[in-house]
Amino acid sequence: MNEIRIFSPATVANVSCGFDVMGFCLDGVGDEMVIRKVDKKGIRITHIEGFDLPYKTELNVAGVSALAMYNALDLDFGFDIEIFKNIKPGSGIGSSAASAVGSVFGMNELLNRPFNKTQLTEFAIKGEALASKCEHADNLAPAMFGGFTLVKSVSPLHILEIPSPNDLYVVIIHPQIEIKTSEARAILPKAIPLSDAITQWSNFGSLVHALHTSNYQLIKDSLHDAVVEPHRSQLIPHYSKVKKVALQAGALGSGIAGSGPSIFSLCEGFETAKQVSKSISDTYADTGIDFDMHVSKINKQGVKVI
Ligand code: HSE
Repeated sequence: MNEIRIFSPATVANVSCGFDVMGFCLDGVGDEMVIRKVDKKGIRITHIEGFDLPYKTELNVAGVSALAMYNALDLDFGFDIEIFKNIKPGSGIGSSAASAVGSVFGMNELLNRPFNKTQLTEFAIKGEALASKCEHADNLAPAMFGGFTLVKSVSPLHILEIPSPNDLYVVIIHPQIEIKTSEARAILPKAIPLSDAITQWSNFGSLVHALHTSNYQLIKDSLHDAVVEPHRSQLIPHYSKVKKVALQAGALGSGIAGSGPSIFSLCEGFETAKQVSKSISDTYADTGIDFDMHVSKINKQGVKVI
């Protein structure tokens, strides 16, 4: 096999109380990429559709992660990469992670899988760092593994897969403004009060337990963010209004997807998710800001060959 087409999914990082460590994978929203083995050595981005992204390999997230993997091998051939980008850069649902994961996953398949998913994620971290100016894997891990993931540590990279309750759905609103992850990181405090840290790790521990036990009430009780949301929510127009109507319509909880501006709402059951989506959509329609909505089950597979 010399050519492969893959689907690389969108993801939600942080999940309220799990800043930089927790994430989950979306169904139906994602990028497609074609990876092709070619005689000429090296990595080239040969086609990009959807958004205006750099063709130069060293400046392209998919290119940088592909290069990290390529340089770890001694190959006498190269790869061309075509990117069909559906996830808008700066949307908060893991656009750069999908690119970074897609290229290395596709190359690995063409090479008959010399690397496992954790090793592939290590290469992908190099691409993600180009976009966010920081090495973190909370979008990469769910894009690579699917479901909920917990990045226990980045160096050495240690990823834990957390079970996803079967009836868990997510609603995403993506207001059409751009927030750069690097800028959303720059506004965060360098230190936090001990009382906020206690609240956060109590919620985070209980969220992990709730996911393991499919305890929807405990998921609801755990989806709070005492650390990051108070700062970043100011960057997202009408954030508190969205959160309020989502909770009124039955969402378990809402929070900022990654570094925003997308907002996620986790829901028990598809009917509730549809109702939450409608309520958010009706409310946001009055703001004059364009937006997209997605309703998705948690995607337990992650990146895949199509
Ligand atoms: N954990 C990261 C952040 C995810 O919130 O800055 C966005 O890339």
